[in-house]
Amino acid sequence: MREISGWQTKLAAFFFGCALLAGTAFGQGVTGRWAEQGKKLENGEVQKSILDLTQKGSALSGKVISLGFGVDVTGTVTGNHFELFGVGWKEKKPFIVGDLVNGELHGTVWGDAYVARPATPADEIPLPVYIEPPPLHKVPYNGLAKTPPMGWNSWNLFAEKVDDKTVRTMADAMVSSGMRDAGYIYVNIDDTWEGVRNAEGNLGTNHKFPDMKALADYVHSKGLKIGIYSSPGPRTCGGYPASYGHEEQDAKMFAAWGIDYLKYDWCSAGNIYKNDALQPVYQKMGDALAASGRPIVYSLCEYGMGEVEKWGPQVGGNLWRTTGDIRDEWESMIADVEKQVPTAPWAGPGHWNDPDMLEIGNGHMTADEYRTHMSLWALAAAPLLAGNDIRTMTDVTKSILMNKEVIAIDQDPLGKQASPVKNGDFETWVKPLADGSVAVGVVNLGSSAAKLTVKAADLGLNGNVQKARDLWAHKDVKFIGGVYEASVPSHGVLMLRVSAK
Ligand code: GLA
Repeated sequence: MREISGWQTKLAAFFFGCALLAGTAFGQGVTGRWAEQGKKLENGEVQKSILDLTQKGSALSGKVISLGFGVDVTGTVTGNHFELFGVGWKEKKPFIVGDLVNGELHGTVWGDAYVARPATPADEIPLPVYIEPPPLHKVPYNGLAKTPPMGWNSWNLFAEKVDDKTVRTMADAMVSSGMRDAGYIYVNIDDTWEGVRNAEGNLGTNHKFPDMKALADYVHSKGLKIGIYSSPGPRTCGGYPASYGHEEQDAKMFAAWGIDYLKYDWCSAGNIYKNDALQPVYQKMGDALAASGRPIVYSLCEYGMGEVEKWGPQVGGNLWRTTGDIRDEWESMIADVEKQVPTAPWAGPGHWNDPDMLEIGNGHMTADEYRTHMSLWALAAAPLLAGNDIRTMTDVTKSILMNKEVIAIDQDPLGKQASPVKNGDFETWVKPLADGSVAVGVVNLGSSAAKLTVKAADLGLNGNVQKARDLWAHKDVKFIGGVYEASVPSHGVLMLRVSAK
């Protein structure tokens, strides 16, 4: 353990003063340390952030530190306007934009408005005692997630608005809608359930979740399982207290509540550790879950950093995110599943690549696009975690999420992750299945409907087709002379299951 001691704090204050003098005071653009007082958290604390920026000509570099995360940034300045990207992220859009206006930064971070002023020492975000990550070893496989986990997660639609009542009514709807019987078993609470940690180090819930054990019992009484969320850092991405230094204590508490699934999100661990510590830091919670006495699915969420697919199973992981956060829009959805293509060889029973949760039914894509979303996740053997309001689903949304023939492709016990072959506007994904048949999905990436041809010779079945079924039309179709032709709408998909003679 290494204490961040008094002299280090003074040194930091000295550099902080120098940065102010060298930067904003002498008008070098946006160079300086800028503080933003964020919104009030559900547990009464205030989320704050520091933008530590250095401008050289039109180039920007620095770090953004908040209660919830720390990220190195790079960007550009044009006049008074600047844009910032996370270093190493695959995002094409800046996540922070702003303008220098009368000595303040005014802009948006992930679309939310902020105003940042020159920081004072009182704005600094204190770092806790440094804890050395443990030496590496193999965490034994917990025997779970033999097929990609299926369920619902609160984040995509509800974010910080999730509460006990939402989770209970969602569990009711998982049963009444048929989602549970279609295989969607996990009801997962994402960030913002956390309260504060007491003197004994026990993490409480905030006012939205009065009794987590009672909630877990309720969800279990519906024949469902329940998931929760934390971070290996001191804070979650939303700025709430997380499991840093309390891994065993939290894992035991989750087990005592009856939790069945943990999503463990890197977030503020980036303020303490470098990426070379990803594996041992995730291993620590893997060990803690193994010692908790309860089988708990372990979902790593570190956005694909450090080739997680190569060591995820070593730390006890059952699935791991391969990308940044999905948005309910076509470009984001397609980019996420394409970004994880290099991870395909590492998917398999018990350990899955996760291109993030589903947006189906959230309203910003067309029905054709949502059918493509579902098909691609199934072909990629991705976890199917619905992110919409199950209580108010339209019939179209139900027909997409509960297409049992497509779900069967996702849940195929062979556990292969398909990869695409591009041909003009078409992208063809072929997934071998346990019974020797294949699933084939052809996506029309173009902006108008187009005719496509599927060739039996391209399906790895020695060209022999005995049976072919269209999994969205729910009818058998015929290959004639070794080919099948169909018209596919813009951003739509043809999805077939084809077996050989
Ligand atoms: C990160 C994750 C999201 C969600 C939020 C919660 O952004 O990638 O899936 O869990 O944190 O704060």
